[in-house]
Amino acid sequence: MPSNSPLKVLVRSIRGWRNKVEHQTSRHRSRSSPGSVWCKKVELGILGLLFVLWLSTFTCRAADENKLEVFSWWTSGGEAAGLEALFSAFKSQNPGVEIVNASVAGGGGSAARPVLQTRLAGRNPPDTWQTHPGLELMDQYVAPGYCEPVTDLYKTNGWDNAFPKNLVASMMTRDRKIYAVLAGVHRGNVLWYNTKLLEANGIKINFGKMTFDEFFAACDKLKAAGIPALGVGDSGIWASAELFENTLLGVVGPQGWSKLFSGAMQWDDPQVKQAIKLFAKMLDYVNPDHSALSWDQAIKALMEGKVAFSSMGDWADGEFVAAHEKEREDFGWINHPGTDGSFIVIADGFTLARNAPHKEAALAWLKTVGSKEAQEAFSPLKGSIPARTDVDRSKFDGYHQWSMDSFAKDQLVASCVHGEAAPAAFQQVLNDVVTAFLVDKNVDNFANTLVQAARESELPK
Ligand code: GAL
Repeated sequence: MPSNSPLKVLVRSIRGWRNKVEHQTSRHRSRSSPGSVWCKKVELGILGLLFVLWLSTFTCRAADENKLEVFSWWTSGGEAAGLEALFSAFKSQNPGVEIVNASVAGGGGSAARPVLQTRLAGRNPPDTWQTHPGLELMDQYVAPGYCEPVTDLYKTNGWDNAFPKNLVASMMTRDRKIYAVLAGVHRGNVLWYNTKLLEANGIKINFGKMTFDEFFAACDKLKAAGIPALGVGDSGIWASAELFENTLLGVVGPQGWSKLFSGAMQWDDPQVKQAIKLFAKMLDYVNPDHSALSWDQAIKALMEGKVAFSSMGDWADGEFVAAHEKEREDFGWINHPGTDGSFIVIADGFTLARNAPHKEAALAWLKTVGSKEAQEAFSPLKGSIPARTDVDRSKFDGYHQWSMDSFAKDQLVASCVHGEAAPAAFQQVLNDVVTAFLVDKNVDNFANTLVQAARESELPK
């Protein structure tokens, strides 16, 4: 026990108290008087109690140190399976550590992120949490001082060459310090379809490329057959915002995209308005119960043949895999109309909390997340491709190989809907303006609100 431990101090004061009592009573009684025996008993009792308390603080702390709290919003079928694969990889390397799965349901993190912010502001952080690189990581977590850098992990594990250098440098690094470890990279601009339903309605897909006209022609055929062509589950409005984001890229292309997010193109540019009009047209083909469904319920509706298409990031692939659907036979995919040659990057990483309650375990977790084994186990279930570029491709199915090829050769652009390309305030206005648009279909209002939001947030004007 250290010489000034609270226990020692207490023992000293009890002894002092006893000496005082004894000194006072000894003036009147002999040392073996009942008063002196009573003092000794009380002292022994208190000391025993303190000893038990002291021991319990040690055992509690030891038990607590063997925990790891991981915060995410991965709760759908494919998401939970992917997370579980990361947990298994971690447990096999760290068998004594108990994982606390602190996930908060709600696609895109719409419910999880506010909970996380409250915890971070209250200095009650989980050890590690899911984050998108880019502005979400930098503005919401690094700038307020909620994260510790993990640069050393990259050095000690030889990761400098394993992860895509540009992505790490441009979206995860500040002052030469790296702040997250990527688990996987999703592709946002994918149009999924029910193969049998399209075949039954005489719709042929020219693999790889689809124009808006071709898409609307297919939608009309389905509409004539009484089938809602486009499945949307926007109980979390981000899912409709994603449909708009994909359509916007289909019109402005990757060059236009970087102009928009660097201020060289305005949000009321004719091209943006054209994308808003196409978005409005798509809404005519959407399932009527869209606002009652979550994104994964919309994918389920696609599997069940209730809708034909869904424009959704490739976490949707995780749902097909979880449901044992067969590639090509049951479901297929293609670039969202007009977006062939581009890849909307929605990457998932994990952070290290400043003052993490279980720092050693958190570092071990990040080491697992960045390991080849974990990345090869996670992405086939989650729908993403591994962030590491040195994985064994043969372990991946047709969709993943397609996405890996696209990531290697296509133009990469950052997602606004998933917090990478724009500040949180702009991301929120986009969600709000999409909510309003579903009702009023007012193109000018949509565009002007975004111009205003770009002016007010730190997005270049
Ligand atoms: C994204 C996230 C994905 C997936 C999706 C739907 O923001 O990057 O991993 O979980 O939301 O919830």
